Amino acid sequence: REAQHVATLKIHKEYLTYLVRDAKGEILMQSHDADPKIFNTQPSEGFSTTEKYRLYGASALRETLFIDIAEPLDHRREAAREALFALLLPLLALIPISLLGVWLFVRISLRSVLAYRRAVEARGVGDLSPIKVARLPAEIDPLADAVNHLLERLRKALEAERSFTANSAHELRTPLAATLAQIQRLRHEAPEGPLRVRAAKIENSLRELARLSEKLMQLAKAEGGGLLSEAPQDLIPLLAHGVDEWNHSGGQRIALQLPSQASVYSAIDPDAFGILLRNLIENALKYGAADQPVEVSLGDQALLRVVNGGQAVPEPVLRRLTERFVRGNSDASGSGLGLAIAQTIVQGVGASMTLASPATGRDQGFEVRVQFVLIPTVKE
Ligand SMILES: Nc1ncnc2c1ncn2[C@@H]1O[C@H](COP(=O)(O)OP(=O)(O)OP(=O)(O)O)[C@@H](O)[C@H]1O
Ligand SMILES: [Mg+2]
Repeated sequence: REAQHVATLKIHKEYLTYLVRDAKGEILMQSHDADPKIFNTQPSEGFSTTEKYRLYGASALRETLFIDIAEPLDHRREAAREALFALLLPLLALIPISLLGVWLFVRISLRSVLAYRRAVEARGVGDLSPIKVARLPAEIDPLADAVNHLLERLRKALEAERSFTANSAHELRTPLAATLAQIQRLRHEAPEGPLRVRAAKIENSLRELARLSEKLMQLAKAEGGGLLSEAPQDLIPLLAHGVDEWNHSGGQRIALQLPSQASVYSAIDPDAFGILLRNLIENALKYGAADQPVEVSLGDQALLRVVNGGQAVPEPVLRRLTERFVRGNSDASGSGLGLAIAQTIVQGVGASMTLASPATGRDQGFEVRVQFVLIPTVKE
């Protein structure tokens, strides 16, 4: 019998070719491009692969009719490649877009965490209030609560420590004064000789102790906060009064220079200003050359300067003088707390203090500059 060819609608290259055969392998029908040589000689069912073709066979009518279909492997590969590209190309564009999206999302949602970080960084000895930040991510919220608890505990611990220092210094004052009075009497009553010398020594030591406890109290006060005043304070009368006190108590060594303005306002507690001034002037009188005046001046821009003569302090020593219990090499007695107290007050009111030696415009001496925050006077 002659194999039937399916009439071709259009001459084209077939991707799939087929043969229809009977059980003995006689070709009954084939597609126009079909090449019988590429098919298995005996019809079989299911998939199989030859060197260049992928074949599929199926039977009908109780295995009397078989159809075999062949597809060139090249074509299959090309189809697979095309499918792969069709999938990959959009992905290539999608991946960067989604990465950018993730980055943007994380950035935006973590913005409040950044604000929180800044708030934590701003906290210090002066400010241990709880941190409030609106809309933190839910995962961070418990952390924020824990930090607030920690701040609270820290604040209480610091407060306890400060009030202990302040209280002890205060409690020491009375017994020290009483003992000092007793020793003085003892010294007067003692006969001329070694006993009186010893009494004098004890008296001196007690005076040192009283000075130290006074300094400790000042330091505790300075660290305790409340250094800013609610209403702006005119620094001129405060300064004039402070200098007057010193000049009355001894020597008239202080030359005061006030600004041309009628008033210079800054937000500092008058007591704190008094303590600051006292420490600076005390140092200038104690360590300055005795034959030179101490110059105290206040500028229009709220710059306070305290200058004294005497040997210049070397730079490495100068840098450490504001630390507690650090002293320069001097014979005068002291505890090394004065400049630390001054520094604490200055920081507490947002001002800045600089030490210079030799003093500006001189080849020796010592200068302390304190730049207060000037509050412009409102003219009404
Ligand atoms: N005006 C000054 N001129 C020269 N040296 C100074 C002056 N002020 C401070 N110093 C040096 O800085 C050191 C530290 O001063 P600070 O006031 O902190 O402590 P102190 O005066 O030694 O003790 P305290 O003030 O506690 O009684 C001093 O020992 C001194 O050597
Ligand atoms: Mg001092």
